[in-house]
Amino acid sequence: MALQLGDTVPDFTQESTDGPVHLYDWAAGSWVVLFSHPKNFTPVCTTELGAVAKLKPEFDRRGVKVLGLSVDAPGNHAGWVADIEETQGVRLNFPLLADHDRKVATLYGMIHPNASDTMTVRSVFIIDPKLKLRLSLTYPASTGRNFDELIRVIDSLQLTDGHKVATPVNWKPGEDVIIVPSVSDAQAREMFPAGWTEVKPYLRTVKSPA
Ligand code: BEZ
Repeated sequence: MALQLGDTVPDFTQESTDGPVHLYDWAAGSWVVLFSHPKNFTPVCTTELGAVAKLKPEFDRRGVKVLGLSVDAPGNHAGWVADIEETQGVRLNFPLLADHDRKVATLYGMIHPNASDTMTVRSVFIIDPKLKLRLSLTYPASTGRNFDELIRVIDSLQLTDGHKVATPVNWKPGEDVIIVPSVSDAQAREMFPAGWTEVKPYLRTVKSPA
């Protein structure tokens, strides 16, 4: 069965551009973003890897480790890494799994045979420090992902894990949030002594607590 939110993600050991990665040891209590690329030396993937390398300081600031995956042999990665540096102006600064035997791709359901039986789809998994799956998304090979959106989701997850709030549509850090329905008004008065706005009894917005 496909991995579902809240599941403990499966462990693996696989070769990468930085040597073998044993997921559970490598994650070491950090958040992890694991994302797949259909194939080496493909144009959309090249732009995505460059963008993620540029965003690395943003992931670092949030305690997130990033891990790419491509179903190519380790020896095949070096030339592509050089191309990424040449064309995107940035050196790859996170490991790229060389999933040549599709061990990880199969374990995580990244191959969708009716789309392609040789390439992975563009999967993303956000994994929390307890190794639980918190987000999964699947994009087609022809559509590059929006990694700013993934950072936005991480900001939401990290905020809502620490406070009894949820984030509304198109929320960005610093904007008002929603008091979760399981919190009664009496509890909310203790949690948010400065008050909140009641749009409807089930829709209460409040200044972001962090
Ligand atoms: C790409 O990454 O550019 C790509 C990969 C597979 C199909 C189409 C585009």
